[in-house]
Amino acid sequence: MRIVLGVGGGIAAYKVASLLRLFTEAGHNVTVIPTEASTRFVGSATWEALSGNPVSNSVFDDVHQVNHVRLGHEADLVVVAPATADLLAKAATGQAGDLLTNTLLMAHGPVLFAPAMHTEMWQHAATRANVETLRGRGAAVLEPATGRLTGADSGPGRLPEPEAIFAAAMALVEGRQDFQLPLAGRTITISAGGTREPLDPVRFLGNRSSGKQGVALAVAARNAGANVRLLAAHMEVPPPAGVEVVQVETALQLREAALAAAADSDVVIMSAAVADFRPAEVSDTKIKKRDDRSDPVITLVRNPDILLELVELRNSTVRGEGHQLIVGFAAETGDSDGDVLAHAEAKLQRKGCDLLVVNHVGTDKVFGQDTTSVVILARSGSEPQEASGTKTEVSAAIISRIAFELNAVSPRA
Ligand code: CTP
Repeated sequence: MRIVLGVGGGIAAYKVASLLRLFTEAGHNVTVIPTEASTRFVGSATWEALSGNPVSNSVFDDVHQVNHVRLGHEADLVVVAPATADLLAKAATGQAGDLLTNTLLMAHGPVLFAPAMHTEMWQHAATRANVETLRGRGAAVLEPATGRLTGADSGPGRLPEPEAIFAAAMALVEGRQDFQLPLAGRTITISAGGTREPLDPVRFLGNRSSGKQGVALAVAARNAGANVRLLAAHMEVPPPAGVEVVQVETALQLREAALAAAADSDVVIMSAAVADFRPAEVSDTKIKKRDDRSDPVITLVRNPDILLELVELRNSTVRGEGHQLIVGFAAETGDSDGDVLAHAEAKLQRKGCDLLVVNHVGTDKVFGQDTTSVVILARSGSEPQEASGTKTEVSAAIISRIAFELNAVSPRA
């Protein structure tokens, strides 16, 4: 596929290098057209090297090739990232002062704008009107991500992560109406991995959680346009790019991080394997073998139930239950008291979370494996939903269920 990648003059231009790589690695032929202003952030040499194609932003370069007509005509897709307020305005009013705006006027295929700007500029009536105009003409304008902006401020206006723009672009080319990122503007906190509870400076009580499920969820949420915060306990896999990582070790640290992160999260997913108990005492020095050969005794105390506390915290705020979706995980086995689903249903009621993702353990192992099979139970009482496949596929199913629940309860403004 021939793609024209227009780069606007915003600080987020540097992120577009990753987007370009995603396109070229998928086998597409990309011509980059930076605006004059954008070359102050990323030079043309970067685009030439990464795309393997010549780069120009002037209609007067290679005039004999009539680039201002040809590029737009030939493109199967035009993506503009970052689409600044200025570029959106120029596109909406049909200006044609440089090669990119000429190309936009000549484009025959789908056009995708990925905006990035300060929140006030995004929310300004002028920008809103320009976005509406462009959408009204059939262009796809993504919702920007929410989160930290260039300065100390935060809000909607961040460029969606390159993987999210890539996913939207591919959906658009396939003619899908749901190209809009379902979690754009949402903040999702995901805990992952297994906590470690220290006994002394060198020993700990741990568990077999690899963190793969939590990381796969973080990737799926990021690709759905969410602003993702990963609370990473011990993991065997690296955290993905494009998510904010908060490193924790113990259940108590995870509790503190989760309660703090929950304050501005639309969704909290507790996929970490949290130790239910911790040693009552942590020795400052390494515990030694005793001379009298007696066996050491470790006394355990209960850790707080973080999921339960998150639900209580949410329900006690003035905004009430509806403003946040809380998702728990459960690894269950059937026994003489009931089957897996009966136990899971009881846990869902006990914990009070909105969704419970149930892994059936025992018959096949879950920890560290790449494939899994889950049932998603909802407190609203809707039918249990099954999902199986790789952890990536299952995570995508969980994230789209979350997006569905979220958009049903509080549609995006
Ligand atoms: N969880 C938590 N805090 C804990 C223990 C678990 O937040 N101290 C969360 C997990 O992250 C998971 C869910 O609770 O989302 C269910 O965990 P699980 O260990 O299966 O449930 P328990 O409450 O420990 O129930 P039980 O061991 O009795 O089955």
